[in-house]
Amino acid sequence: MTTSTDSMNSALKDRYLAHAHRIFVLLLAAGWLVLVSWGWSVRDQDYISASSGLGYYLGMSGGCMILLLLTYSLRKRVRALSNLFHLRYWFRLHMMLGVLAPTAILFHARFTMGSAVNSTVALVCLLTVASSGLIGRFLYNRVHAGVYGEKIKLVQVRRDFQTLHQAVLDLAVTDKQKERAEGVFDALEELIGSLDTATFAALVRNRHRARVIAQSLRTLLKAIEDYHEEHPEAHEELSKTRADIHNCADIMLAILNKLPGLHLFERLFALWHVVHLPIFGLMIITAITHVIVVHMY
Ligand code: HEM
Repeated sequence: MTTSTDSMNSALKDRYLAHAHRIFVLLLAAGWLVLVSWGWSVRDQDYISASSGLGYYLGMSGGCMILLLLTYSLRKRVRALSNLFHLRYWFRLHMMLGVLAPTAILFHARFTMGSAVNSTVALVCLLTVASSGLIGRFLYNRVHAGVYGEKIKLVQVRRDFQTLHQAVLDLAVTDKQKERAEGVFDALEELIGSLDTATFAALVRNRHRARVIAQSLRTLLKAIEDYHEEHPEAHEELSKTRADIHNCADIMLAILNKLPGLHLFERLFALWHVVHLPIFGLMIITAITHVIVVHMY
């Protein structure tokens, strides 16, 4: 039994848990804010020139970073690259460069729109694409497990909940506990079966149901835990299994939290792609035009 909950634990972790280092991300975000605020505050001083020296190289490196961040798309689509590092590393690179490139270009442009139409349009398109990327990141997070985990698939989630159901039943001792376990997992099954409406009303309604189920599951696990604590002699060999099942339940409760909005956010994410890609195309055209114009005159 321990081996099976062990492997269940690691299968769920592989599938759903890929955490970002939150503190690291927060520190980077704070550093970025300080840098950009400073750049903005000194924008009127001629500390940099877009056409020569550091300013010129910042523009060039911003452009190169944009080309480099597109390797994520290549890695996603080119079959020959499918074994080259996990996709999540390419995605991280994409996002990091997606922030660094506009930052370098903002300094290159000295935080001003400039007098030429071509540079103004190119900068607006770039900032629109980068901001759209942030919105995409939010939507991506709603339909993927963890921060860089797998895309949530209902078929798999249902299977994982069934495995957890069996594990909880094995742990339950009294008839009442077993009955409550049946009640919780029946309600869960019903919720998963009714998740096909992608509307905000359904999101609100289902979120409430998901909260009630999560609370009942937590209460049930606590009751089972208390029972085992009170009768340690009979269930000593279960102690490791209990911890594993609690871990699995925590992972699945985090997934349960995302289920109510899954279809709605999947649809919004698909719509987001439809909008993001043309803006990106426009950005590339305006950036190339800008580079040609500044090198011609
Ligand atoms: C100059 C800045 C950026 C450019 C040019 C850019 C470009 C792109 C492109 C072309 C795609 C489509 C990829 C594909 O489906 O193959 C994409 C997807 C995406 N980008 Fe960016 N992006 C930028 C910045 C950002 C930023 C700052 C973030 C978030 C922090 C971000 C998050 C995303 C997300 C979540 C996706 C969808 C990924 C997926 O569906 O697999 N992007 N971006």
